[in-house]
Amino acid sequence: MKGVVFTGFFELVEEKFGYEMVDRLIESCNLESDGIYTSIGTYNHSEIVQLVTKLSEFTEIPVPDLLQVFAKFFGNNHLRKYETFYKSAKDTFAFLESIHDHIHVEVKKIYPDAELPHFEAHRISDKKLDLIYTSSRKMSSFAEGLIEDTAAYYQETIDIKKEFLEADGSKVKFILTQQ
Ligand code: HEM
Repeated sequence: MKGVVFTGFFELVEEKFGYEMVDRLIESCNLESDGIYTSIGTYNHSEIVQLVTKLSEFTEIPVPDLLQVFAKFFGNNHLRKYETFYKSAKDTFAFLESIHDHIHVEVKKIYPDAELPHFEAHRISDKKLDLIYTSSRKMSSFAEGLIEDTAAYYQETIDIKKEFLEADGSKVKFILTQQ
């Protein structure tokens, strides 16, 4: 997992829970990296899982809720750097359809070792899009937060329904309906 995810995570923890929480997390997790991340580095995915799980324990906020909040924060603070991607798509659906074949492909050029999810988009109608998320990292709640964040960017209201195609969360269908 790219360091940019970790630096984003710690910015969020610091902003919402204070620096003591950052310290507490680093102290209580068993991190190969010792909690030292640079945005271009690559770290074991299990570290983010440990950190989010511990944060959930300390704050009593469920992991999926934390991932969703994290995605929104990440969207606002980091993805906006890639404003051109947003500008080149006309609405939420067009943007989401472009993640797999365009955006994450560009990401891979910048970070060849990025571990990205697979997205498959099916346009059911003008107002309906099915987006199938597949990833061994099981971060569909993170994807859900990014979808909400994308809709907010385009000032659209999108209803999101989630259907687990694999019980462990490695394959999830998002049924998106424009309101
Ligand atoms: C400008 C737009 C975007 C950029 C630049 C971007 C970039 C990235 C980067 C750098 C990572 C980390 C890869 C790693 O740690 O190795 C990532 C992961 C991820 N991205 Fe994107 N992304 C964008 C849009 C989106 C959107 C809109 C979604 C959701 C629909 C999404 C879903 C995810 C998920 C769920 C992950 C976590 C890894 C996984 O589940 O396997 N991304 N993305």
